[in-house]
Amino acid sequence: MVNHKGGVGKTTSTLNLGRAFSLEGKRTLVIDIDPQANLSQATGIEEPEENIYQAMCEGKELPIVNLAENFDIVPADLDLSEAELRLQSDVNGYFILRKILDKISDRYDFILIDCPPSLGILTLNALIASDYVIVIVQSEYLAVKGLQTIFNLIEKLRENLNTHLEIMGMLITQINHTVFRKSIADTVKAMYEGRVFETMIRQNITLAEASAAGKDIYTFDNKCYGAEDYTLLAKEILESRLPVEA
Ligand SMILES: Nc1ncnc2c1ncn2[C@@H]1O[C@H](COP(=O)(O)OP(=O)(O)OP(=O)(O)O)[C@@H](O)[C@H]1O
Ligand SMILES: [Mg+2]
Repeated sequence: MVNHKGGVGKTTSTLNLGRAFSLEGKRTLVIDIDPQANLSQATGIEEPEENIYQAMCEGKELPIVNLAENFDIVPADLDLSEAELRLQSDVNGYFILRKILDKISDRYDFILIDCPPSLGILTLNALIASDYVIVIVQSEYLAVKGLQTIFNLIEKLRENLNTHLEIMGMLITQINHTVFRKSIADTVKAMYEGRVFETMIRQNITLAEASAAGKDIYTFDNKCYGAEDYTLLAKEILESRLPVEA
């Protein structure tokens, strides 16, 4: 889940799309690769001693925590901010996550990675380890600005470092009934025809409340719009023509 713009819904989407996949019976792992550790906090994990930092920088085993049936997380912690410097001085620094995930990927149907709001070495590790990218786009002013930077980066990676990387889709979030937000969604759809998910995530305060309570939306309130939207998104992806390998 990528966008270098902050606060667009990457973490909320990683958690709740991940949980929606697990409820569809798919073995799902979500990975927090953001030093802000919002994904970990949103699942009730605070300052985990064992987190992705030790796996990426100290060669320790990847700490996988089970949250629910078919639903696991690798947590992060503020430690991870140090990883950026350490990885930059390592010749294999861009490939660490790919190497780690190669060892466990056959255990899961989906691995979703929650990237930080930057296109630095942590996000690059995620992009190099991935088959697909979901670009999260908030329906607000200036949302479209900066998207080209992401697409240029993906193109560059496809030339060499990750030739099979594909954009799975762009996910419009925090849509509401205002003409303004709808017009932004229409602009994004028109500009990136065929690459925008049909499902859009409506603005729903319950999603924010669930994260603050350390819960996914299905555990917190499975009848709200947010739960409905992420279920629809999971179904759209599962029913799409994408060659998602089991
Ligand atoms: N559909 C939504 N409706 C209402 N609030 C939302 C929705 N999606 C996300 N939020 C809230 O918006 C804020 C930003 O969302 P989130 O943390 O998922 O974004 P992010 O892209 O991961 O941010 P960052 O770039 O800082 O990592 C959070 O407070 C979250 O609860
Ligand atoms: Mg986040």
